[in-house]
Amino acid sequence: PVLVVDFGAQYAQLIARRIREAGLYSEIIAHDAPAAEFAAKNPIAIVLSGGPSSVNDEAAPGFDTAVFDLGVPTMGICYGFQLMSTTLGGRVAKTDKREYGSTPLTVASTGALLEQTPNSYKVWMSHGDSVAEAPADFDVLASTPDTPVAAFECAARRFAGVQWHPEVLHSEYGQQILENFLFNVAGLEADWTNASVIDEQIDLIRQRVGSKNVICALSGGVDSSVAAALVHKAIGDQLTCVFVDHGLLRENEREQVETDYVNSIGVRLVTIDARERFLSELSGVVDPEHKRKIIGREFIRTFEAAAADLVLEAKDEGAEIGFLVQGTLYPDVVESGGGSGTANIKSHHNVGGLPDDITFDLIEPLRALFKDEVRAIGRELGVPDAIVSRQPFPGPGLGIRIIGEVTEDRLSILRRADAIARDELTKAGLDGEIWQCPVVLLADVRSVGVQGDGRTYGHPVVLRPVSSEDAMTADWTRVPYDVLSVISNRITNEVDDINRVVLDVTSKPPGTIEWE
Ligand code: XMP
Repeated sequence: PVLVVDFGAQYAQLIARRIREAGLYSEIIAHDAPAAEFAAKNPIAIVLSGGPSSVNDEAAPGFDTAVFDLGVPTMGICYGFQLMSTTLGGRVAKTDKREYGSTPLTVASTGALLEQTPNSYKVWMSHGDSVAEAPADFDVLASTPDTPVAAFECAARRFAGVQWHPEVLHSEYGQQILENFLFNVAGLEADWTNASVIDEQIDLIRQRVGSKNVICALSGGVDSSVAAALVHKAIGDQLTCVFVDHGLLRENEREQVETDYVNSIGVRLVTIDARERFLSELSGVVDPEHKRKIIGREFIRTFEAAAADLVLEAKDEGAEIGFLVQGTLYPDVVESGGGSGTANIKSHHNVGGLPDDITFDLIEPLRALFKDEVRAIGRELGVPDAIVSRQPFPGPGLGIRIIGEVTEDRLSILRRADAIARDELTKAGLDGEIWQCPVVLLADVRSVGVQGDGRTYGHPVVLRPVSSEDAMTADWTRVPYDVLSVISNRITNEVDDINRVVLDVTSKPPGTIEWE
């Protein structure tokens, strides 16, 4: 395999996936694995990922530098690039200058690594320290205004590195550069066709489940729908889907999910009305992580209650319910601190919010995948396009889009504003370009306005249209002014209590997509 060394970056799995896309099998390995463990895996190349630490820190993640002596072609990215520099005789300097986001790169010489890329282009940076001097036998290939050594290679050793993140889509020519490393610098040949995730998962699910029954936490979104379709394909009628109406849904969402499901995938669907329960548990709560934990906990409790009912039914048929299917994706796992040494950004309700005393075993067939991979699998499974192309909506729903306490009144205000924004974006034909557009209610903020000759003292909503490939990074979508204007007019006219519409123009990083 091509080994991707995980230094606790949000990006390690993304790198592994880009390598899979290039047609080579790749696996992740922990940064502190001894060189012998690397060697035992017979790596054909090694990629050192980025990470949150500085190589000059005492607490920098451990790495067995004997890995550099294995004779395996190696590429360093960001932190990995700096680690290569210090270990192989270069120098990394603490700089005052931090580069975050899109940065112009100037290529001095392409070498093999930057072949077929132009003299200058934009790359995605996220670092504080910089390589001040490359190791002696390395050629410096490129620079940025603040980083004199932004890329280097050593053809003799088949080593290369870049300061930026070629694996994120916002880096131009990123895939080209990774492939240049694999095919030009390392001299590998593509030999791995997309192994059938579906068949593999179906076998696995059948083995684990046996004759037991399974329930699926269905949200109506892409992830849980594809997970349900996959499990349904594996075990058919042993699966029952449970849809919880937690009261944090968008307008008409429940009805839509019910029709979609009955009509298309054909699985058994039970809807549970838990609106009162969620609202009363959330009463008085303003802290985002607290909200997420409560919603995660109540989800599970609701399922347990639903399952208890289903168990009674199932007992008649002789099989208990032992498993819960969730459409957890890799970004959910990483951002809930699932990777080693990864910072906990927020607790996604389907991972970090789970209580410890959960009584189901989890089936998470999409846990290693990204959204676009899941969509491809969904299409393969025959899940209708209306579901597969749906924009993401977070499990905690509108609960994490009300900044402040969640109340019934605030929910209905936000629900209305959200419906208008989505309606107009769809009418403008922007659904394909926009990954999702959260509408956020700043419930504890008021501002003065004027409407119909009278003073208003209402709340602002924030429009957060973002473009992204996998939600790991995102940029704000340049929605045409005319469309924004219509949305703003309609929301301020049609929704009581909203007298201002503002636009969020922050990329991720540094912002996350949702506000909470
Ligand atoms: P953030 O806000 O972390 O969002 O940049 C990344 C993507 O994940 C969605 N999201 C969630 N999805 N449960 C989910 O199923 C959650 O708790 C959750 N929180 C955020 C968000 O809408 C975006 O698509």
